[in-house]
Amino acid sequence: MATEQRRQDTVRRVKEAADIAEIIGEHVTLQRAGANFKGLCPFHAEKTPSFMVSPERGSFHCFGCNEGGDVFSFLMLYHRLSFPEALKQLAARYRIPLAENTLTPQQKEESRKREEIYALNARVAQLYHQYLRQHPAAALARDYLVERGMPEAIIENFQLGYAPESWDFLFKQLNREGWSTELAAEAGLLAAKKSGDGEASRARGYYDRFRNRLIFPIVDLTGRISGFGGRILGEGEPKYLNTPETPVFDKSRTLFGLYQHRDAIRKARSCLLVEGNFDLLALAAHEVNDVAAPLGTALTTEHLRILRGYADEAVLLFDGDAAGLKAAMRSIPLFLAAKLTGRVAILPEGHDPDTFIRQHGQEGLRQLVAGASSLPEFVFAELVAQYGLGVDGKNRIIAELAPIVHSLDDQMLLRTRFIAHFSERLGISSDQFCQSIAHRARTRRPPASSQEKEEIPRLEANEEKILAFLFLHGSYLPDFLEAGLKNIISSPAAGALLELMTDPESDFVRSPENLLSRAEERLKPLVARLLIDGGGFYPDEHREECARQLMSWLRQHERKKTAEQLNREINAAYQSGDQQRLLELMQQKQSLNGLNAHQGQ
Ligand code: GTP
Ligand code: MN
Repeated sequence: MATEQRRQDTVRRVKEAADIAEIIGEHVTLQRAGANFKGLCPFHAEKTPSFMVSPERGSFHCFGCNEGGDVFSFLMLYHRLSFPEALKQLAARYRIPLAENTLTPQQKEESRKREEIYALNARVAQLYHQYLRQHPAAALARDYLVERGMPEAIIENFQLGYAPESWDFLFKQLNREGWSTELAAEAGLLAAKKSGDGEASRARGYYDRFRNRLIFPIVDLTGRISGFGGRILGEGEPKYLNTPETPVFDKSRTLFGLYQHRDAIRKARSCLLVEGNFDLLALAAHEVNDVAAPLGTALTTEHLRILRGYADEAVLLFDGDAAGLKAAMRSIPLFLAAKLTGRVAILPEGHDPDTFIRQHGQEGLRQLVAGASSLPEFVFAELVAQYGLGVDGKNRIIAELAPIVHSLDDQMLLRTRFIAHFSERLGISSDQFCQSIAHRARTRRPPASSQEKEEIPRLEANEEKILAFLFLHGSYLPDFLEAGLKNIISSPAAGALLELMTDPESDFVRSPENLLSRAEERLKPLVARLLIDGGGFYPDEHREECARQLMSWLRQHERKKTAEQLNREINAAYQSGDQQRLLELMQQKQSLNGLNAHQGQ
């Protein structure tokens, strides 16, 4: 009891000491609104701020998604921490001694492991950095950085390092310093030898993962080094080697440079996205700091969601090769779902951001970015290249554009501009364009001449209506399920979707767009369309009303189904002459009718 008392006491003291606006303000741009602060909710996609922070009450609440709580809940949600971990972080920050026993043994172990990996990473970054700075064997690496135009300040600021060409430099050094080899392996710094000689090789069982590589420490949003990228010096395969997934490193949630550049990005309300680590550093070397880089992976919803806390738009800086175009195309639904404006700046052929800024300087790059086209426009150009502007080509382009237009239904200015732009490009009138799109929305046929294309699974109209709403407002899923959602599902595609939606692993309620990665390939276009179309059908200000109507419709459907079932049973009881049962069933039917008369419309 005494320990529990102490624990409560610590929690209270930490909560009192913590400045919730300051802590949330590190991740969300907050503006003062009377006694409170207001900002864009980091837990769901929105364009107008409905996320409130009350320093007075020490709480936050989002009126859009209903997420809310105290400073602990925020850290738990945002950084995916357990309560004890959040408590520990805050206690350390405000130098409040932590009573022990606040963690279960397993949590204690996990949290200790994470802390140790962070500490080890910090030390290793230092070792590689010192090596780059001082060691004679790093002369080539230093030359290479000079050759690539990296100023001292950048090397310092990003704590670049060099891992020497050795199988056991780090292994031995860490041993000398008393670090556990297993820990270093778990941190992805050492790799296990795949040798068949078993126990005997135990002592020699590990080797340095990074060898003869420039080292880019990757700092996560807690300001600590969570992993490393390593570029081979000169030519060789693989060009980049990153830390594998560890208890503190997850590539799909990490952007290189974001921590260092967070203030610049927040100030610009815009973030340039480049593909390469060197691109990012080259831009930084030219004082372009509103930039971040995903670590060689395709953009994820998590990336955009994190960026949404800092910026209103992201500008993809791509070399015009096919891979870049594909990536831009695929990211459209993610941008739309995250309500982040996407733009695309295409570099002249043969350039990447690194070579471009070296040749054209900051000014040249700013000009290029200023001329960036919106992601949808960019896609149009792509479509023209793909289908041409013949009659059939135009039809197919309109079919492909329809979902994008619907996604702009609640932004009339943008939508009008979009349509004007494309109808002109297509050589038809805006009206024709709208009619053609409206026609598609009504009939919902798969694109014409779909023989050579893989057939996109179809949904029934009812299913489409309900699912589109849920993809827009995932938080209604439990209510809809309770109202009998399952009853209206009849197509196999909708069945498969519902299964994914209700799988806790999908976290659908919070992030419907997770289904983009979780759905099997053939369902993905359907998921993307639902994510986009929902925005067109259900304007945000009518959300509650729509939800009520849809649920009442579901309940009605449920009653109808129950009634049919009852009728069948009544029939059976009548046939078999079971009077007792018949009486029971008739009563049930009657009360159901009463319910219908009462609630139905
Ligand atoms: P250079 O300019 O050639 O030094 O490289 P870069 O930093 O500009 O990278 P590049 O444009 O070639 O690649 C973009 C990003 O993809 C890199 O920064 C890496 O994160 C990732 N990447 C590139 N090659 C590899 C590889 O071989 N393996 C892995 N895992 N990632 C890679
Ligand atoms: Mn490059």
